Amino acid sequence: MPPTPLNLTKTYYQLPYRWGPIDEQTQSAIAGQLDAGAGDHSLDFLTPLLDAYPNRDFFGDLASAELLRSDADWFSPQNQPNRIDTSVEPLIVHRVYQRLLDQLLSSGVLSLVSSGIPASGALLYYSDRMARCVIFEYRLVRNRGVECVPLVELRKPDRLYDMDSALRATAPEERSALKKVLMLGHKIVGHRNTFVHVDRRRDLGVAGPFLDTILLNEMAHKYIYEHMHQDEVAALQLKSVLEIGCGSGLLAAAASQNLPSITRLEAIDMSPESVLCAYRNVEANLHESVQAPLEKFFVCGAYSGQRFSDFSIVLCNPPYIPYIPEEHGRRTADAISGTSLLEAVIASVPTLLSPGGVLLMVVSDLARRELLVAVREQGVESLEVTPPEGIEVAFDQEDILRNQSWLEWLVNERELRHRAEGDGFSHVLRCYAVWRSEAQGFSDDAGTIQRLKTMRAALGT
Ligand SMILES: C[S@@+](CC[C@H](N)C(=O)[O-])C[C@H]1O[C@@H](n2cnc3c(N)ncnc32)[C@H](O)[C@@H]1O
Repeated sequence: MPPTPLNLTKTYYQLPYRWGPIDEQTQSAIAGQLDAGAGDHSLDFLTPLLDAYPNRDFFGDLASAELLRSDADWFSPQNQPNRIDTSVEPLIVHRVYQRLLDQLLSSGVLSLVSSGIPASGALLYYSDRMARCVIFEYRLVRNRGVECVPLVELRKPDRLYDMDSALRATAPEERSALKKVLMLGHKIVGHRNTFVHVDRRRDLGVAGPFLDTILLNEMAHKYIYEHMHQDEVAALQLKSVLEIGCGSGLLAAAASQNLPSITRLEAIDMSPESVLCAYRNVEANLHESVQAPLEKFFVCGAYSGQRFSDFSIVLCNPPYIPYIPEEHGRRTADAISGTSLLEAVIASVPTLLSPGGVLLMVVSDLARRELLVAVREQGVESLEVTPPEGIEVAFDQEDILRNQSWLEWLVNERELRHRAEGDGFSHVLRCYAVWRSEAQGFSDDAGTIQRLKTMRAALGT
């Protein structure tokens, strides 16, 4: 077979994912207001909605309800509410966006000050359903807190730090400002109500957060955290959380913020810099929202199923690029390659989880075989919870793109896809829920699995 022609240009992620209709309560609140003549532009109905869900910005859901056109340019001047002939859509966009600026971003950035962020810089914010990524420039201002200015909005975010799309979407006169803030040695990423900081000069072993991490956090919100407001019984059952391969700690931080009843939080990574970085980010994000006394453990080392047991929620976006079989034993695991961590985690599920506990894991179709084999061999239950087509993302691992034999093996033996001409490669991410079988003592006390199954059914087959 002739060698695969290499083209390192990237492709775009097929985002945002679609979820189907928004929840009934939101839908009827919005529909009722519009019927009652929201043409007066009061939009007061949005305030209680936004208040009730401090971890959401609603851009994804409102677009799904077709209240926002997916291409609505939400901070262009003509979408500001002082236009005379303005329609409801720009007003909704403006209200949600204003809220994002006033509350989420300011408190998010301020919470990271003690972690050593610079006095001004850039932050990437991912909205609900990953519908938009906006790059903001922030500035800490004496006596006034923080000022955030949107620099560019990416509607199809290409990768976590997508410089190319960002620069293309920016007016020529603003490009040098964008370049300046993105070149800083600090990575600040926000998703929903969680903000993490990685100092790229100090936190050398910290690879994430990746887009996989954001996807997993989105799934945890969609299936678990968003329901804690209405379902206090379920909230009380969810007592403990573990993030395996914690990297920046974004997932552990989000869990501790959005599950007010947890009493135990643990995070493990084999990279010492990651453990320190996760510790800083968890501490920064922990607000008064945590009601119960919370015990926290940050563990540095290779994951072992013997060390961890009895968790209500386990979160993991493990490395998932398999090695060519002949090279398997010769390579050591890193942040993205090798499947030994995912196999070890699945193998430990019967003791790792509490009787009603659930593991959420994002894995590429490149390692689907390893995942399904591990699930079958361990006799645990699993359910794919992303939309049936999965989330297609660019494959941009440069060391593998340069390794011709590995690349060919992934194309021929796994699900690495050639994109349209000149567009490089892509692969598909899926999120899986995994739990103990009934024979292993599973009992759905918190109703998490029932909810996962019902919501998953709404996505279609
Ligand atoms: C894809 S990254 C996870 C990124 C992370 N969620 C974040 O937000 O930064 C995978 C992580 O797993 C860690 N890892 C890989 N194998 C491991 C093992 N056997 N035990 C513990 N950590 C491991 C890596 O050091 C890396 O930080």
